[in-house]
Amino acid sequence: MPPRTIVGLSGSLRRGSFNTMLLRAARELAPDDLGVEIASIRDIPLYDGDLEAEHGVPEAARALKDRIAAAAGLLLVTPEYNNSVPGVLKNTIDWLSRPPADIPRVFGGRAVALCGATPGPGATNHAQVAWLPVLRVLGVRPWLGRILSVPTASKFFDESGALVDEKLRERARAFIAGFADFAAVSRAPRSGARSEPKASGVEKV
Ligand code: FNR
Repeated sequence: MPPRTIVGLSGSLRRGSFNTMLLRAARELAPDDLGVEIASIRDIPLYDGDLEAEHGVPEAARALKDRIAAAAGLLLVTPEYNNSVPGVLKNTIDWLSRPPADIPRVFGGRAVALCGATPGPGATNHAQVAWLPVLRVLGVRPWLGRILSVPTASKFFDESGALVDEKLRERARAFIAGFADFAAVSRAPRSGARSEPKASGVEKV
C-alpha cells in the first residue's frame, strides 16, 4: 500500500468516458509512493435542501467526504459542458460542502489538482478555469504547477481505454508526480506546523 493517497473523481458517468480513462491513466502513471483512489460520484443524489433538512447529508456523500478528509489530495478530472463545469461533478462538490462547518475538515488546505479530456479541440480549458472560483470558496490549496488538458481525446486512448500516446503518457506522468510532491508538502500545515489555512468565503456559504 503506497504511503500517500489522493482521491480522484471523474466528472463523467459515461461508460466510455475519456475523463475516467484519463483518471485511470493518472493512477497507472503515479509514482510508487502515491496511491490514486478512484471514487465514484454515481450514488450522489441531486442536491435538495429538503432532503438535507430531513435526512442530513446522504451516506454516499458522507463517505466520500471522509475519504477526501483522510487523503493527501483531491484530483478532479473534469469534462467541459457548454464552456463550464459538468453538473454532476458540481453537484457532488456541493454535497461535499455540506454542512458548511465541515468545509475546513474536508477541503481546507487540501491539495487539489484539475485536469480533463474532451473529444473536441478546446482541451477543457474553460471548464478548468470555471472550477477555480469553486475551489477558492472552499479554501483548498490548488496546484497549478502543470497543465494536463487533453483535446481530441479519441486519438490518445485505445479501445480498451488505455492511454497509448507516449508523449501524453509522459505529460501525465509528470503531472501526477508534480501533484504528488505538492500534496506531500501541503499536508504539513494541517498536521499543525502552521495554523490552518482559512477557508476563504466559508462564512458566506
Ligand atoms: C459537451 N461537450 C463539450 N466539449 C467541449 O470541449 N466543450 C464544451 O463546451 C462542451 N459542451 C458540451 C455540452 C454538453 C451538454 C455535452 C453533453 C457535451 C462534449 C464533451 O466534451 C464530450 O461529451 C465528452 O466526451 C464528455 O466527457 P467524457 O464523458 O468523455 O468524460
